[in-house]
Amino acid sequence: MKKLFKLLAIICLTTPVVAQNNTPVYLDSSKPIEQRIEDALQRMTLEEKVKLCHAQSKFSSYGVPRLGIPELWMSDGPHGIREEVLWDEWKGAAWTSDSCIAFPALTCLAATWDVDMSALYGKSIGEEARYRGKDVLLGPGVNIYRTPLNGRNFEYMGEDPYLSSRMVVPYIKGVQQNGVAACVKHFALNNQEKYRGHINVEVSDRALYEIYLPAFKAAVMDGGAWSIMGAYNQYKGQHCCHNQYLLNDILKKDWKFDGAVISDWGGVHDTYQAANYGLDLEMGTWTDGLSWGKTDAYSNYYLANPLLEKIKSGEIKEEVVNDKVRRLLRMMFRTSMNTNKPWGSFGTEEHALAGRAIAQNGIVLLKNDKDLLPINPDKTKKIAVIGENAVKIMTLGGGSSSLKVKYEVSPLEGLKNRIGNAAEITYATGYASPLTDKRDPKYVVPEGYKAPDAEKLMKEAIDIAKDADIVLFFGGLNKNENQDSEGTDRLSYNLPYGQDKLITELAKVNKNIAVIIISGNAVAMPWVKEVPSIMEAWFSGTESGNAIASVLVGDVNPSGKLPMTFAVKLEDYPAHLVGEYPGDSINVKYNEGIFVGYRWMDKNKTKTLFPFGHGLSYTKFQYGKATLSAPAMRDGDVLTVSIPVKNIGKVRGKEVVQLYIGDEKCSVERPLKELKGFKKIELAPNEEKVVEFNITLDDLKFYDESVHDWKAEQGKFNVFVGASSTDIRSAVNFTLQ
Ligand code: GLC
Repeated sequence: MKKLFKLLAIICLTTPVVAQNNTPVYLDSSKPIEQRIEDALQRMTLEEKVKLCHAQSKFSSYGVPRLGIPELWMSDGPHGIREEVLWDEWKGAAWTSDSCIAFPALTCLAATWDVDMSALYGKSIGEEARYRGKDVLLGPGVNIYRTPLNGRNFEYMGEDPYLSSRMVVPYIKGVQQNGVAACVKHFALNNQEKYRGHINVEVSDRALYEIYLPAFKAAVMDGGAWSIMGAYNQYKGQHCCHNQYLLNDILKKDWKFDGAVISDWGGVHDTYQAANYGLDLEMGTWTDGLSWGKTDAYSNYYLANPLLEKIKSGEIKEEVVNDKVRRLLRMMFRTSMNTNKPWGSFGTEEHALAGRAIAQNGIVLLKNDKDLLPINPDKTKKIAVIGENAVKIMTLGGGSSSLKVKYEVSPLEGLKNRIGNAAEITYATGYASPLTDKRDPKYVVPEGYKAPDAEKLMKEAIDIAKDADIVLFFGGLNKNENQDSEGTDRLSYNLPYGQDKLITELAKVNKNIAVIIISGNAVAMPWVKEVPSIMEAWFSGTESGNAIASVLVGDVNPSGKLPMTFAVKLEDYPAHLVGEYPGDSINVKYNEGIFVGYRWMDKNKTKTLFPFGHGLSYTKFQYGKATLSAPAMRDGDVLTVSIPVKNIGKVRGKEVVQLYIGDEKCSVERPLKELKGFKKIELAPNEEKVVEFNITLDDLKFYDESVHDWKAEQGKFNVFVGASSTDIRSAVNFTLQ
């Protein structure tokens, strides 16, 4: 009899309940998602639920074949859609249909200070992901720039939580409008690559809430991110991929996150913690995203059979799995099972031009004495282009953000495309990086390869520099190990491969030299006084050469601003002066607290090489006086700051007007000023616009550790409006009553 009842029960439970139109509720897209989730959940067996919580291959996780619920496909990375890899390997699958468009690195996007560029970025990369059938894009990254040695800074948006918070939201919305989940990473406190797999970060609550969490909070609460990726490192002794504090208390309870938490690849270390401390989907176990590990081990994953056993034994309740399954199903109904998502597009000229526009708006003109730039090709007979970075492919390498691109225009090609025969362009390598990057599966040392003779390279460069009208030196970093690359940090703040000496020698033979830095990080510039022009061009993707050339010849007036401080020397950075880096391999103490970047430079009165928010133009902008809509404000008020800005130069240009606020007196130490607003405006010569910012009480608050909440104290607040964090053009103040 019992057997009969059991059989009947199974038949009832697993026979799809059909709606009037004969479609099961969970498959009926006219039904609300929450209803569909509950319908699907109650049809699934325990085994099917557990399978949903872990990988089935390198970049996919299970669906429910019996119910027609598709598997979930994800792909790196933040700058473009990674090539297809083999089922269970990092190695490329050698498809002939997956060469993508590489968009600029996220430091370049941040440097645009333009939320419209972020929306364009998200839409474009989302279309590429959708076309390639990817349901989850493993990006963007918004970890804060704490040290210039962090190998992955190029994947993130700089040192300021407000800038990162504003710039990440449109990107997420743009991606998700394609029915692709953004997976914002790496949550949280993943600010170095050294010891990344386990280092335990010790940071004050104040710094956690004011500096390291805001961009993730904005991603969830303003951007509506459908997934979050846990970080490799630890916080409070728990790995961030299963962390009671970050995932359960803050992300899911305080921020009401309804999406799925996906582990970093190899970031899961314990079944009980993974089950109970907020993880929903385990990926990449037994490989840290770089090294090799066990293969085809998916049923041994921490959230696979070991979890099933613990549920069957009663040690872990089935409800724990149900919550994960609800979140995963919600992500599926938004993506793989979303029946009205667009079709996407891939490798298009539209996307290439989007990338070029982002790059053109992100390139930062750091210095331009004697208006050496822009070049006028009709008046320039001979241009000497020097440096390996004028020709080096930068979209390949650097770890998981590495891309197989449809094409990449190098700076030298971009100059030749733009200038043609109007001027003679000569080229010399000048310096060369060794072929040492063994981590990229494509790494092959050509037969008989001989390391280049540095002296010979330098001599050749000096020879062509001597009689050129202008020298364009392309240097910086690259995606090799210990450069701008995942898995390792830089070993020095200086430019590698003897570039500093070469630049000095070149400047001796030709005063008309512009140095263009290709990097995702700040670098030391001991030669800064020896060269009239310096530009930061970032890693700017498929169209980088065309974007850089268009700015160098003045087709485009540069308008980027630095999203991180360029200090004179490494020890000027607080992480190296008062904080710990890289820590003792077990713990790393963020002793500098909230004083990261310009916050520290202001407090310590440190003169920087180039400050946060700095960026020049080929024109000049004149700021008038800032005025306030009222001399005081109370809770609930909105105070408006207005300031006229005029283009007093000869060419049209864009300016990023920045608003900083400082609390004159407070019961806790606060920075002199903090970024609380920015607006990018375009002005024709002689055109003037009045720029307005609204200030609310939230802009005045600090995180009060004694009450675990945000609060603002009454008193005087200073308002600084300027063209960078140190180039303040007008200051006013008001009272909070
Ligand atoms: C890597 C990275 C992560 C990436 C993942 C998949 O280790 O940390 O950003 O998305 O693994 O490649």
